[in-house]
Amino acid sequence: MSATVPLGGGASIPLLGFGTYQIKNADAAVAVSTALNDGYRHVDTAEGYKNEEAVGAAIRAFLQREGLTRGDVFVTTKLWPGNAAWRQAPKTRQTTISSLEASLSRLGLDYVDLYLIHAPFHPEHRLDQWRGMMDLRASGKARAIGVSNFSVAHLEQMRAAGLEKPAANQIELHPWSQKPELVAYLRRHGITPIAYSSLVPLATWRVAEGQRSAKTARMQADSASPRSPFRLMAAKYGVSEAQVLLRWAVQQGWPVLPKSVTPERIRQNADLFGFTIDAGDMAAIARMDRGDGVAWGAGDPTRAP
Ligand SMILES: NC(=O)c1ccc[n+]([C@@H]2O[C@H](COP(=O)([O-])OP(=O)(O)OC[C@H]3O[C@@H](n4cnc5c(N)ncnc54)[C@H](OP(=O)(O)O)[C@@H]3O)[C@@H](O)[C@H]2O)c1
Repeated sequence: MSATVPLGGGASIPLLGFGTYQIKNADAAVAVSTALNDGYRHVDTAEGYKNEEAVGAAIRAFLQREGLTRGDVFVTTKLWPGNAAWRQAPKTRQTTISSLEASLSRLGLDYVDLYLIHAPFHPEHRLDQWRGMMDLRASGKARAIGVSNFSVAHLEQMRAAGLEKPAANQIELHPWSQKPELVAYLRRHGITPIAYSSLVPLATWRVAEGQRSAKTARMQADSASPRSPFRLMAAKYGVSEAQVLLRWAVQQGWPVLPKSVTPERIRQNADLFGFTIDAGDMAAIARMDRGDGVAWGAGDPTRAP
């Protein structure tokens, strides 16, 4: 059984998850099977990733092959809410419900463990989308519901409306984007932070995918420097830089979602529980925050109106 942390609302979520953004449907079955064979018990996908069919097929085949049951793998998918800035129509309460039904049909599953609103992109429709999410939890099609890329202001809007709080908020979290106020708010309100794009400070982060991000030339040079603090810590602990970055999050109780299509990296990224970053190094990393995240390129979506 993999290590878990409580998910707001009473369930629990594995600390180690497998991210699938930018893994094409044609490649996802092999990547997800490799991850499951290496001990990952959480797979993160989304309507917007266009790979739910292969992700679901790989999960179902693994469960059958290993004689496991559906409850042995935690599955997250996300509602694409429509983006006002990209002139996309908003999802409504009703189309939120039909969106998960379509995701379940692609995944070949009866329910997901966690369903998230992918981003806070439609200010006028966020609350109605959340009501649709609450309907889905009540029907059992989503065991838990949450949000992604929501700021304190977005979460306060939900609270002011008297709506149920999300179980989790999936956000870009790594030493260069630590979001201390948002994380403190989540802790106070019992909302589990889930860290994405943990590997941003690596020189190799998304290079093969064409670097569609707001990672600056200065950041890239710092990543590649032989004096990179993550490189020095990796040498000290006898692990890779990726393991240092992922361990930093799990040591604080935040689930991580490393993505890789490289078998050796998939295996390495799962090996996070045999070492501890000492207090001095945790304090040094705490001083490395550079502000907003870079993964979305066009700006950290927690800044959306
Ligand atoms: N909710 C959201 O808005 C949101 C946004 C972004 C991401 N996410 C989720 O979080 C997951 C992870 O985020 P991410 O995809 O941005 O990136 P990530 O996991 O931080 O980094 C992935 C990149 O790092 C490389 N890599 C992986 N392991 C490595 C290792 N051990 N050593 C060196 N390089 C390594 C991968 O290359 P190879 O694949 O070539 O090995 C890929 O280029 C996503 O897949 C998705 O599930 C959610």
